[in-house]
Amino acid sequence: MQKTDIPRVLVLGATGRTGAAVVKFLEETPGQVVPVRTSRSQATVEQWIKEEKEAVRIDLDDPDTFPAALEGIDRLFVMTGYTSAMNHQTKSLVDAAEDAGVSFLVHLGVFSNGRSTDPHFAWHKLVERYIAGSKLAWTHVHPHVFMENLLGINRLRDGQMVWPMGDKQVGWIANDDIAAVVAKVLAEGSEAHAGQVYELSSDLLNGTELAEFLTTTVGREIPALVLTPDDLQRMIDAGLDTAPPNMDAAYAASTLIWARQTFEGRMDYSVVTTSTVKDLLGREPIRFASWAAAHRQELLDQLS
Ligand SMILES: NC(=O)c1ccc[n+]([C@@H]2O[C@H](COP(=O)([O-])OP(=O)(O)OC[C@H]3O[C@@H](n4cnc5c(N)ncnc54)[C@H](OP(=O)(O)O)[C@@H]3O)[C@@H](O)[C@H]2O)c1
Repeated sequence: MQKTDIPRVLVLGATGRTGAAVVKFLEETPGQVVPVRTSRSQATVEQWIKEEKEAVRIDLDDPDTFPAALEGIDRLFVMTGYTSAMNHQTKSLVDAAEDAGVSFLVHLGVFSNGRSTDPHFAWHKLVERYIAGSKLAWTHVHPHVFMENLLGINRLRDGQMVWPMGDKQVGWIANDDIAAVVAKVLAEGSEAHAGQVYELSSDLLNGTELAEFLTTTVGREIPALVLTPDDLQRMIDAGLDTAPPNMDAAYAASTLIWARQTFEGRMDYSVVTTSTVKDLLGREPIRFASWAAAHRQELLDQLS
């Protein structure tokens, strides 16, 4: 693939929550950059190509797929799945991107002070230090907890909002806000954004507060089941709570450590909102009430 004047952006995770939304936003501003979708699935890639969309197969567990996927690519959106493999996956990908002449990389990390001992926070930080030591210009995007977790790992259980962190609040951010920020940074490139770290948090809510919003949104009583991390550990041990299929065991264990550190107040520094969405996009962020209203049917479906 020959390079053209329009930068070509390889978007990892284009079948997932964040990557798909990044592609959607990049396509809303045609002419700035060309998004190139990726998936591990050859059938998915072929379907995209049939639809006249640019796409390549890449498997982060198979570095032999990297050179072909990176050919003719100028900018790269790096996101990894819910796996401890993010460390060696990203290291090998950054090396291959350097070799392929990629100039700019945007990485999806986590909202942290960089000193967290929670394993998946530490993995993301290690990855970012490696990126910083590469020849590529970079921007890190640090989202707080995805509102979309309410449709996945934090979905209602028996009609209840389960919250294993007592009365502790955490920060929340809508996936469309994360993706809109990532897409803007990718489209504007390193001149505008190299070396920046964008922290994303637009609402502070605990389980009881989430349950109140959900009750209003769906028009049915959604009680909060307020627990401690020890209660959650007992539920896991009894087989009453399992990790989602897209999360490996090490990452799942890490989320329990995160819950414990949150419960103990060790994450209190992160209970803040940021003005990043307003600063970069010139509009207010999506607050939880609007997000819940937009996903009312998916929330209602969890009650049936
Ligand atoms: N959920 C949160 O609250 C939260 C908060 C902060 C940060 N994060 C970070 O967000 C990231 C996950 O984002 P997400 O929720 O958008 O992910 P997601 O919806 O689970 O999507 C994962 C994507 O990664 C791709 N993928 C997985 N393994 C791959 C591999 N070996 N090779 C190539 N592609 C692979 C999948 O594509 P195919 O299956 O098509 O190959 C899929 O498109 C994680 O790094 C997590 O730490 C999450």
